[in-house]
Amino acid sequence: MTAPALPPSPEERYLLLLRIAESVNERLELAAALEAARFCLEPHVPVDAIVVITIDGPRLRRHAISAAKVPRVEGESARSAFARVIESLQGDPSFLDEEVPLEGSAVEYIRRTRETLVYGDIPNDVRFPEDARLANCGIQSLVRCPLERGGEVIGTIAYIRQHGAFSAEEAALLEEVSGPMAAAVANSLAYEEIDRLKTRLEEENLFLRGELDARDFSGDIVGSSAALRRVLTQVDRVARTDSTVLIEGETGTGKELIASAIHKRSARSRRPMISLNCAALPPGLVASELFGHEKGAFTGAIQRRAGRFELARGGTLFLDEVGDLPLEVQAALLRVLQEGTFERVGGSETLRTDARLIAATNRDLAREVPDGRFRNDLFYRLNVFPISVPPLRDRREDIPILVEYFAARHGAALGRRFRRVDRRTMDALVRYDWPGNVRELENLVERAAILSEGDRLVVDVSALGSGAAPPTDRRPSSLRDQERHAIEDALRRTRGRVSGRNGAATLLDLPSTTLESKIRKLKIDKYRFRGAREARPESP
Ligand SMILES: Nc1ncnc2c1ncn2[C@@H]1O[C@H](COP(=O)(O)OP(=O)(O)OP(=O)(O)O)[C@@H](O)[C@H]1O
Ligand SMILES: [Mg+2]
Repeated sequence: MTAPALPPSPEERYLLLLRIAESVNERLELAAALEAARFCLEPHVPVDAIVVITIDGPRLRRHAISAAKVPRVEGESARSAFARVIESLQGDPSFLDEEVPLEGSAVEYIRRTRETLVYGDIPNDVRFPEDARLANCGIQSLVRCPLERGGEVIGTIAYIRQHGAFSAEEAALLEEVSGPMAAAVANSLAYEEIDRLKTRLEEENLFLRGELDARDFSGDIVGSSAALRRVLTQVDRVARTDSTVLIEGETGTGKELIASAIHKRSARSRRPMISLNCAALPPGLVASELFGHEKGAFTGAIQRRAGRFELARGGTLFLDEVGDLPLEVQAALLRVLQEGTFERVGGSETLRTDARLIAATNRDLAREVPDGRFRNDLFYRLNVFPISVPPLRDRREDIPILVEYFAARHGAALGRRFRRVDRRTMDALVRYDWPGNVRELENLVERAAILSEGDRLVVDVSALGSGAAPPTDRRPSSLRDQERHAIEDALRRTRGRVSGRNGAATLLDLPSTTLESKIRKLKIDKYRFRGAREARPESP
C-alpha cells in the first residue's frame, strides 16, 4: 500500500463508523457492501482486500471478497470473485473447490474466544491452515475479526494488506468496523436463504403448500428481486419516522400494500390506517370526506360527520390516487401538512390532526405541476420521501414466487392444493409484460385456481398473447379510475400513439376518435408517454 495514513481523531473515527454503517446498509449485495467499506476506510486504514468467511454447519464458506486491484463484477459468484483475486496475486485458486472444515480453523478459534487476530508477518507466523494459503499468495499482514450477530459469531471478516503491517490503532479501528459489517453479512445471508428457497421452488416445481397454508396471507409482500428489496429497505427506514411518504408506481404494482406495510411497521400500528381514494369520489365530496362536515353544510349533510383526518388521529391516513385531488382540496391539504390544522366543511372551528400521511399515485406528479394540475408547493410537501414501486416487468424474477404464492392463497380459499405448474407455463408468465402488474397476475392465477382440476395449476397463457387486455380490477374502484388505468397503460405501451395499427385505440379495441375524446375527458396527457420505455420487445 502507498503513503501511511494518519490515525483518525475520535471525532473522525465516529464519523467514519457512521459512514461505513450507512453505506454498508444501503447495499444488499455483500460484495458491494465490502467494497463500500473499503472505500470509506481508504483515507484512514488502507486495505488491499476484505474477505468474509461464514460458518455453514460443520464447514466454512468463503462468502465475499473485495480487492482493491480486482474490480468487482456485479452479481458474480463468490467462488469466481475469490478465484480472480487469488489469480491476481499469482496464487493457485484450485483449493477453492475443496471443502474447508470449521474444525481446526481460525474461524473456530475466533468463535470460541471472540478474539481479533492480528498478523504482521504471515509467512513466519502460520497459526491455522488459512494462514498458509495467504502466505502462499504473498500476503504479509492481516487483521481477522469476529462477526457477531445476536450474541453469536457467524463468521469472520479479514482485512488484508499485502505489504506492511497494521498498527495497533488501525487494528482497533478495523475491529470496530466489523460491527456494522456483521449486520450486512447477516442481511445478505437472509436474502440468500430467500433466494435459495425460491430456486428450490422453481426446481421442484412444487408449491410450499403446507407452510403457506398456516399463514395469514394478508399483507404479505412477496418477492426477492433486488428492485423489490430496495423498496422494502425504504419501507423499513421510513416506517420508523413520521415523514410524509409518496408512493409512485403503475397500476397494480402494490402501492397500497406498501402503504399498509409502512403503517404496520410504524409506531402508529396500534391505531388504524384510514384510506381515501381521491379518484373514486366525485370531486365535490372529497373535501368533506377528508375534513368532515357540519350539519347543514350542504344538501344532504343532515348530520355532523367526522372526516378521515379526524379518524386517522394517532394513526396513518392513506390518500390513494392523490393526483386526482381537486385543486381547492389541494390547498387545504397543504395547510394540514404545514400546520396540522383544518376545518370541517361548513364549520369554523379549527381542528388539529397528527395523522401521518402516506399518498400514492400512478401518475408522474412532477409532470402535472407545470400544467397547473397539481400544486407545486403541495408536491414538494408530499415528495419528502418518495418510494417508487417498480413494474412487474422490471422484476421478472419475482413472478414464479408470486404465482406460487397466489396459487397457495387462492387455493386455500377454495380448499384446494396445487403442487405443480407446468414449466412452460411458468416461462410464458415470466416473459409476459404484465401491464396490470401484480394485480393482473393475481387475477389470472385466481381464475386458474378456480378452473384447474387436480393438483396441477393450469393457467390459460393464450390470453396473454396480445398483452392487450386492460388490467381487471377486483377491488371496488371507480369506473373512471379503471378506464384511466387501461388508457394510460395502453398509451405507455404505444409510446403515446393513439391511432393506427400500433396505436392505443387498436390495443383497446376502440375507434380512435372515441379514445381521443376519453383522453380529453380524463385529462390524460398523452404526450408524456412519448419517451416512455417500450414495454413489449416483440412490438413491430
Ligand atoms: N409483492 C406482492 N406480494 C403479494 N401480493 C402483492 C404484491 N404486490 C401486489 N400484490 C397484490 O396485488 C394486488 C394489487 O396491489 P395494490 O392494490 O397494492 O396495487 P396498487 O399499486 O395500489 O394498484 P392501483 O394503482 O391500481 O391502485 C393486491 O391484491 C395486492 O395484495
Ligand atoms: Mg391502489
